[in-house]
Amino acid sequence: MKVIVVGTGYVGLVTGACLAEVGTNVVCVDVNEAKIKDLQNGILPIYEPGLEEVVHRNFQNGRLSFSTDLASVIPGAELAFIAVGTPPGEDGSADLKYVLQVAKEIGASMTNYLVVVTKSTVPVGTAVKVNRAIKQALQERDQLLDYDVASNPEFLKEGAAVADFMKPDRIVVGVNTEKAQQVLENLYHPFVLNGRPIVFMDIASAEMTKYAANAMLATKISFMNDIANLCELTGADVNKVRKGIGSDPRIGDRFIYPGIGYGGSCFPKDVKALVRTGKEYGHAMRILESVEAVNEDQKKVMFNKIDRHFESDLQGKTFAIWGLSFKPNTDDMREAPSIVLIEALLNAGAKVRVFDPVAMHEAKKELGERVTWGTDLYDAANGADGIVLVTEWNEFRLPDWNRIKDSVKAAVVFDGRNIYDDVTLQKKGFIYYGIGLAR
Ligand code: UGA
Repeated sequence: MKVIVVGTGYVGLVTGACLAEVGTNVVCVDVNEAKIKDLQNGILPIYEPGLEEVVHRNFQNGRLSFSTDLASVIPGAELAFIAVGTPPGEDGSADLKYVLQVAKEIGASMTNYLVVVTKSTVPVGTAVKVNRAIKQALQERDQLLDYDVASNPEFLKEGAAVADFMKPDRIVVGVNTEKAQQVLENLYHPFVLNGRPIVFMDIASAEMTKYAANAMLATKISFMNDIANLCELTGADVNKVRKGIGSDPRIGDRFIYPGIGYGGSCFPKDVKALVRTGKEYGHAMRILESVEAVNEDQKKVMFNKIDRHFESDLQGKTFAIWGLSFKPNTDDMREAPSIVLIEALLNAGAKVRVFDPVAMHEAKKELGERVTWGTDLYDAANGADGIVLVTEWNEFRLPDWNRIKDSVKAAVVFDGRNIYDDVTLQKKGFIYYGIGLAR
């Protein structure tokens, strides 16, 4: 089976590489020539554990190739995935111009029956627009070729993308013909041998499933952040509350970790887009409006704690920031809460020393020379008045606190992810602040 994947971002590249890994012939297409040239030379545009090996292996065995020329690779393909970006427009709605441009190009170059699948996160109704764009392009060529559109949202998590794709919890596919269903069933057969389901449904429901899943997860996080803040005020400890509620399988123990707000390229964008879709249909998504508002406030929680501790006198103080990416195991800085915190510290006249195991290169694009770039966590902490744990990378979990104590100016730790034990740190002579803990 020959498959085309258009867009070599997180979703497209992982999809292409993992499909090739199980034996499918895949051509990944992108308009960015430099990116395609790099991929042909084995250089990946993103850091994602395990991805480089899968890309290299399948590029070498010839099942995975890269091209900038969509029109020349479409003929002969059975399936084309659209996995290009859907950046948020000014009003929060997903901008479909790239998706529809690709649909048009596919319609202009296809030569045989093709299933065109949207994999980008796209609002309900997009498949209809994709269909229209293809049909129009075919009409312009006076061609009456048979094709189907389908929706196959992706649920992979950055940092675990390859593992998530290879062993999915479920695969959701929206189709409106038997023929398209058969093609997708064949494609995904190797991924559901573990008994996990392919859930077939109509296209609108598949499109909505993606948003509903992300919105539910974002809701869990904002809910816990709200509870955490109330815990602080009432003398309760959110770590205990989390364990207390998480053991109820109806609630579950995952995605209920309070922190400094969710970030990344998905939750913030998708929550806004669903609120926007609600507005379009005259339905206020009141829960999601609050989820977003709570998240915006949560990004400021750590700064407020720091400001209170130093009695609003941050001028000339130095802070170490451990972790910059929006979560561990990725270099993705999109909507990273670290940036909000660092900007607030710099605005208050503080100096900032940062360290991240992988994301410093990405973060430099935003922060430039306004912060000092540490060589490791100890270097970042050197001479600091406070250490702020922002991203819970494994290598931050067990630092040598005695060594740190000797090199800091003041032994204060602000733990944005509750990964340290307050009692242990206090015994070692540190003042400790977490999220949602009784003081
Ligand atoms: C998210 C979803 O988890 C994926 O299923 C989905 O496919 C993806 O969006 C997407 O739409 O493409 P991702 O953004 O990679 O994946 O990252 P998550 O692991 O979900 O984390 C998102 C944010 O929530 C991070 O900032 C993380 O620190 C935060 N988070 C997560 C918490 O604050 N608490 C938690 O308990 C869990």
